[in-house]
Amino acid sequence: MDRAVDWTGLIRAAAARLAEAGVESPRVDAELIAAHTSGRTRTALLIADAPDGETAGRFEDLVSRRAKREPLQHLTGAAAFRNVELAVGPGVFVPRPETELVAGWAVEHAPRGGRVVEACSGSGAIAAALADERPDLSVWAVEIDADAFEWTERNLAGTGVSAVRADATDAATLAELDGTVDLVVSNPPYVPMDIEVAPEVHWDPTRAVFAEDNGLSVIEGLIERSRAWLRPGGLLGFEHDQTHDADVRALLEVGGFAGAATEDDYAGRPRFTTAGKQLPHDQTPRLSYGRRNASGGLCRVRGRMRTGRRHL
Ligand SMILES: C[S@@+](CC[C@H](N)C(=O)[O-])C[C@H]1O[C@@H](n2cnc3c(N)ncnc32)[C@H](O)[C@@H]1O
Repeated sequence: MDRAVDWTGLIRAAAARLAEAGVESPRVDAELIAAHTSGRTRTALLIADAPDGETAGRFEDLVSRRAKREPLQHLTGAAAFRNVELAVGPGVFVPRPETELVAGWAVEHAPRGGRVVEACSGSGAIAAALADERPDLSVWAVEIDADAFEWTERNLAGTGVSAVRADATDAATLAELDGTVDLVVSNPPYVPMDIEVAPEVHWDPTRAVFAEDNGLSVIEGLIERSRAWLRPGGLLGFEHDQTHDADVRALLEVGGFAGAATEDDYAGRPRFTTAGKQLPHDQTPRLSYGRRNASGGLCRVRGRMRTGRRHL
């Protein structure tokens, strides 16, 4: 390592290397790794002295790991989400910018002083944002996986959110809240098994990303559980695969929800859907798409298998 090379030169070389490795935002990533390594802001680096050999070596190590497509957030140990910063690392899903949209929907639509459940909480990103932006709410965060739950608890400590390690689709989970919740929000696993994903996604836990039944298994269970949690008129909003908008609207309709509407992500892909639990005078689900089985559960939708790389 040439000690005379300043940060500008190191960042330029690192950005070229990351671009070569197929990283989507090579310059920004190189700058953020440099900022993390040096303890300076990206702007301050422009006029900073050349780093010493040890610092430059640490920078090169992290750039090498990023070139192998390890997520930037695993290298820095942190992920920004709306106005909060979350600790992340192996064992937990790295929150994505797109999920800020469904979190924003929850921030805007939860009634004052209301009860909110975040299902499939992972790092606790959505619940932490709700606690930050809507301190008037009572929030529960449900996560099934033991490793992920360590991060849920860590990030939600001191926020007032109640973190619960449980299966969000199980009828016993938070059963004491049944009929009283105002809003349920979730970014569940939804990628169909064996679908191609970006190399970074392989660092996320499999259970956080992929789901059976063409990606709909957890969503189906979540719709059923949410219908029990919510008061009539209460709201459910969740992220889903870009090919599932019609499927999830149909599942919501047959699952006792009304007014299902899908919103696009930043790239214009249909990525989250919201609906309201039907009011008592309109309890009969319309059977236009799926149907109920003998025990009242939803029959599974088996949509076409859609191929192509997924964006999370
Ligand atoms: C896509 S990640 C989302 C994490 C976080 N909400 C976010 O947006 O960054 C899905 C999370 O749901 C958890 N999960 C999967 N199935 C679940 C279930 N049945 N009940 C509760 N959590 C579940 C996974 O362990 C994972 O942490």
